[in-house]
Amino acid sequence: MRLQDKVVFITGAGAGIGQAIALYFAQHGAKVAVAEIVEERGRETASMIEQKGGEASFIEADVSSVGSIEQAIAQAMERFGKIDILVNNAGILEYRPFLNILEKNWDRLINVNLKGSFFCAQLAAKEMIRLGIKGSIINMGSIASELAIEFQSHYVASKGGVRMMTKSMALELAPYGIRVNAIAPGVILTDMTKEDLEEATVREEALKKIPLGRLGTPLDVARAALFLASEESDYITGSLIFVTGGFEIGA
Ligand SMILES: NC(=O)c1ccc[n+]([C@@H]2O[C@H](COP(=O)([O-])OP(=O)(O)OC[C@H]3O[C@@H](n4cnc5c(N)ncnc54)[C@H](O)[C@@H]3O)[C@@H](O)[C@H]2O)c1
Repeated sequence: MRLQDKVVFITGAGAGIGQAIALYFAQHGAKVAVAEIVEERGRETASMIEQKGGEASFIEADVSSVGSIEQAIAQAMERFGKIDILVNNAGILEYRPFLNILEKNWDRLINVNLKGSFFCAQLAAKEMIRLGIKGSIINMGSIASELAIEFQSHYVASKGGVRMMTKSMALELAPYGIRVNAIAPGVILTDMTKEDLEEATVREEALKKIPLGRLGTPLDVARAALFLASEESDYITGSLIFVTGGFEIGA
């Protein structure tokens, strides 16, 4: 059990990639704080883990609000006594031409994807430092941390920010033995992308860009997350792991 006795706090763990990470980590022995804005989804993930004999707790959290993050971290600490691993997974995507992005569109997306990850990491790191835990923080970047994508300029800005934020955090938290890394998923079939990928032409276009010739699954991402969470990646910090089937490597 690679995560035996570890406590993991996962944001947006009620669906898609976050849920897959929650279930996979629980399977590997972790106790899971399921931090999620939609109560029904969060409870479902927690009960799926419990049904398999694992330990999990739904914690209501809106990562776009620092007050909500503070409460959620405090609840996790009360329930589990520590946080060893943080997975900053919660994120939203919106398609909108650059020239039509309004202040409210920008604020909503940046507040969830960038501000949310920033303050979750800051508050979780403080608890790790207080308890002397040499933890692991995993931020969810994207292929958009590396490549510009049309009609997603605010999303691309948020994920580019996640990339550099990861490096900065890794530098400042290294003296405490806390590692900070990011994952850049490519095209993963989840609620976020489902509608788009149901269109045959969109799906075919995406597949043409993926050398390994298939779409990604949430489990593909969970496997990389397990590596970054476990001691097998003890000497890795500030890095970005692509889980893309090779999307970014060439034309
Ligand atoms: N699906 C992909 O192809 C893909 C590709 C690259 C990166 N990503 C990134 O992976 C992460 C997960 O994506 P997904 O495809 O699983 O998305 P999803 O939409 O399937 O699930 C996201 C989950 O986050 C929750 N959430 C949304 N806003 C929240 C908030 N303010 N506070 C707490 N929880 C919130 C949602 O309720 C949902 O349960 C995101 O950061 C996304 O940007 C996804």
